[in-house]
Amino acid sequence: MSEPVKFEIPGTIVTGAGASATAGEHAARLGARRALIVTDPFILSTGIAERIQGHLSDSGIEAAIFSDVQPDPTDSNVADGLLALEEHEAQIVVAVGGGSALDAGKMVAVAKNNPGPLSEFMGYHRIPNAGLPLIAIPTTAGTGSEATRVTVITDSAKHTKMMILDGKLVPSVALVDYELTLSMPPALTAHVGVDTLTHGIEAYVSAFSNPMTEPYALSCIGLVGRNLRRAWEAPEDREARAAMALAACQGGIAFANASVCLVHGMSRPLGAVFGIAHGLSNAVLLPAVTAYSLTGAPDRYATVARALGVAGPDERSAEAGSRLLEALSQLNEDLEVPRLGELPGIDEQTFSRNLAKMASDALASGSPARNPVVPETTEIEAIYRQAW
Ligand SMILES: [Fe+2]
Repeated sequence: MSEPVKFEIPGTIVTGAGASATAGEHAARLGARRALIVTDPFILSTGIAERIQGHLSDSGIEAAIFSDVQPDPTDSNVADGLLALEEHEAQIVVAVGGGSALDAGKMVAVAKNNPGPLSEFMGYHRIPNAGLPLIAIPTTAGTGSEATRVTVITDSAKHTKMMILDGKLVPSVALVDYELTLSMPPALTAHVGVDTLTHGIEAYVSAFSNPMTEPYALSCIGLVGRNLRRAWEAPEDREARAAMALAACQGGIAFANASVCLVHGMSRPLGAVFGIAHGLSNAVLLPAVTAYSLTGAPDRYATVARALGVAGPDERSAEAGSRLLEALSQLNEDLEVPRLGELPGIDEQTFSRNLAKMASDALASGSPARNPVVPETTEIEAIYRQAW
């Protein structure tokens, strides 16, 4: 390889049952006395946020809870969170929840030391100052946000999703406690589970895939192949939940350091225009985008098929590739992931009217440029139609 490659992950990753109970210990180690827990109303209603508050209190840390993060967090969510942080004089952020709460918490921690509109930080490595330390505790398996240097915040004025990537967004500590995922309902398990698979696949076929990210990507794909159906069928299957939590974290490590590609590029505009949640919009697109991209990296996709357990070691790349396409469609069908046209709140007229804008927004995000086949906007429109 000609260029040096940077690999960034949290300084500490704790995995396994009870990992979230160590929050206080880590916050104290990082020198904090006061903390702000950033979460959403649902997690507050489950009692998880208060449990974390108790763990922090056990280590002498006084924590306030900010629970106003909405799905697909916006710049004003972050501003409100920052206000709560300053009112409580918190020295550390503890983000608890799915991708939205983690992304918002990461941005609140950074915004503390970086005034100015968040749009200034959109893109790659544009945050000037280090933020407050952050402990990330995922409750879904998941976006992998606990392990990444990426956050996605909606610009509420422009109705676009801002992708912000910077090493300063990497959490200091990730506490990956699968026990917090046991109560995820089957549909959410399916959507974020296929999103996890998408992270592994996109990281592995990305133009920026490298020897540090490949083992994480392939391990993520294998864990999903062996465990996602199990976790969907039996939510209390602890072994499957533990494996999916690991897969999500490993997928996050892989994609944050190798980039995502066309699926994520196309999924963000679906979220911005129709409010479709991140996991679902990726799950809906994965089969169609993979079919489009296959010719750009046949050997890589064959390796993906083998890692997923749907192709044998001796099968040629072309055969393995078609097995992968079949398997991805079948997986969505088995997990009852709807097609784009079946989603509530999305009608064909609005879809058609927004196609050109969605395609150009997808391309502008930069992710499609890492795809094995780099599309034109008209091709992106065709893939959206295929997923309809
Ligand atoms: Fe994702």
